[in-house]
Parts: sequence; structure tokens; C-alpha cells
Amino acid sequence: MLEVKNVSAYYGDAQALEDVSLTLPDTGITAFLGPNAAGKTTTLKVISGLIRPASGSVWFEGEDITRLTPMKRVDLGIVQVPEGRKLFGSRTVEDNLLLGGYTSRKDGKTKERLDYVYECFPRLLERRTQEAGLLSGGEQQMVAIGRGLMARPKVLMIDEMSLGLAPVVVEQMFELIGSIATSDMSVLLVEQHVQNALEVANVGTVIEGGQTRLTGTAEELLASDVVRESYFGG
Ligand SMILES: Nc1ncnc2c1ncn2[C@@H]1O[C@H](COP(=O)(O)OP(=O)(O)OP(=O)(O)O)[C@@H](O)[C@H]1O
Ligand SMILES: [Mg+2]
Repeated sequence: MLEVKNVSAYYGDAQALEDVSLTLPDTGITAFLGPNAAGKTTTLKVISGLIRPASGSVWFEGEDITRLTPMKRVDLGIVQVPEGRKLFGSRTVEDNLLLGGYTSRKDGKTKERLDYVYECFPRLLERRTQEAGLLSGGEQQMVAIGRGLMARPKVLMIDEMSLGLAPVVVEQMFELIGSIATSDMSVLLVEQHVQNALEVANVGTVIEGGQTRLTGTAEELLASDVVRESYFGG
């Protein structure tokens, strides 16, 4: 469905990505793993069009989208849930969700979509009129993911979903992700909780120092020396 081909990217003179390649299947969950500063967020921004690669390309459903604007990519169904959630804290939960439905596809499906998001996250229905900034960390992450779902994504990229959440909440978030990953959506999950991520994911890619190091099924990655050494102390 989506393919990043041999992408290099820079911030000024500093190279952040070197020859990065990543393939997302049509459905299911792909774990995107790597240490701090590996280039995970940068890769996501290349996919959403927030950063233009110096070389390489991004393909979606067989078309080269490397030069498309971020807005056009959202319209195609490529949606990023940013690291740190980036909610409007003084606005209600529902206002935040509605912002995600504000694409150029004015087809009157916003209400239907909102119902779907509340179905996925019943907690948000209870809190729909509360200020987003007053919610717990886990609930705020639900709002951020829900806002992404409002745009009816075909590719949903979630950056550091469990950052700053208590372990029990992290478990709940992984269960939720497993249940919302539907048959018509591909989820790209950036995670520090490698074990949880590989339990819920079908496939994964490891990136280090701006270079893709390893790609395989979740089982292969869990068993691999690279993942064991990097994340589980050998
Ligand atoms: N806005 C920026 N300006 C300059 N350098 C940046 C910028 N954003 C990221 N970098 C650098 O690019 C490299 C890759 O960063 P990136 O944020 O993609 O890593 P990451 O894998 O998402 O890390 P983390 O796990 O800490 O979120 C790092 O060396 C980082 O310092
Ligand atoms: Mg990051």
C-alpha cells in the first residue's frame, strides 16, 4: 500500500536519514522500532510530506507521491498521529476530534465518523464535552488517535503512542490498537515498548542511525539478535 524507497533526508547540513526503505502492507500493524534519534519521526514526516527528502521516493497505491503536499496526502488517507499528541487543551474532546474530520472531502460523513470514533473509544463519548487538557494521559492519547481516525485513514501512523503513560495504561492502549486496526487500514506504530509492539504487530522494521537495519515478521524480529541486543540486553 505504501512504500518508502531509499530515502535520504537532512535538517540543514545534518543528515537524518540515509537510504531508508520501508514497506507497509494493505492491512495490519507494522512496528517501526529504533533507539532515540534513529530517524523514526523523520521517516513519518517524510511519509506525511512535512519533510521533503533529498533523494528517494514515497509511493502510495502505486503512485509516486513524493511531491504531493501534506494536505493532499491526508486526503488520500495518509494520517499521522504526532509524538506528544498535540491537542488543543482548552477545547473540548469533541472539538479536537472534529478538527481531524476537517478534510477537503465534504461528503457529509463527519457525524457518522464521529460515531465510529466514539464506538472505538467509549471513554471519549463520556468525556466529549470536557476540556481535552484535563483528561488523563491515556485518554488524551485516545483523543489524538481518534482525531486521526476522523480523517478516515488508509494509513494511520502513530508516533510514540505509549510515551509517558503508566504501564497498565500502556497495556490497555495496545489492546485498543489491536481492536481498531481494521481490515481496510494499515497502522504504522512507532514504539519504545518493543515487546508489546511486536506482540500486537504483524511485521516490523528496525531503524538505527538513520538507516534501516532489519525488516521481518514480528516473530522474526522478536527472535533476532539485533532486537535482543538493542532492547532486551542480549
Ligand atoms: N527539527 C530538527 N532540526 C534538526 N535536527 C533534527 C530535527 N528533528 C530531528 N533532528 C535530528 O534528526 C535525527 C533523527 O531524529 P528523529 O526525531 O527522526 O528521531 P526519532 O527516532 O524519532 O527519535 P526519538 O525516539 O527520540 O523520538 C536526530 O539526530 C535528531 O537530532
Ligand atoms: Mg521521534
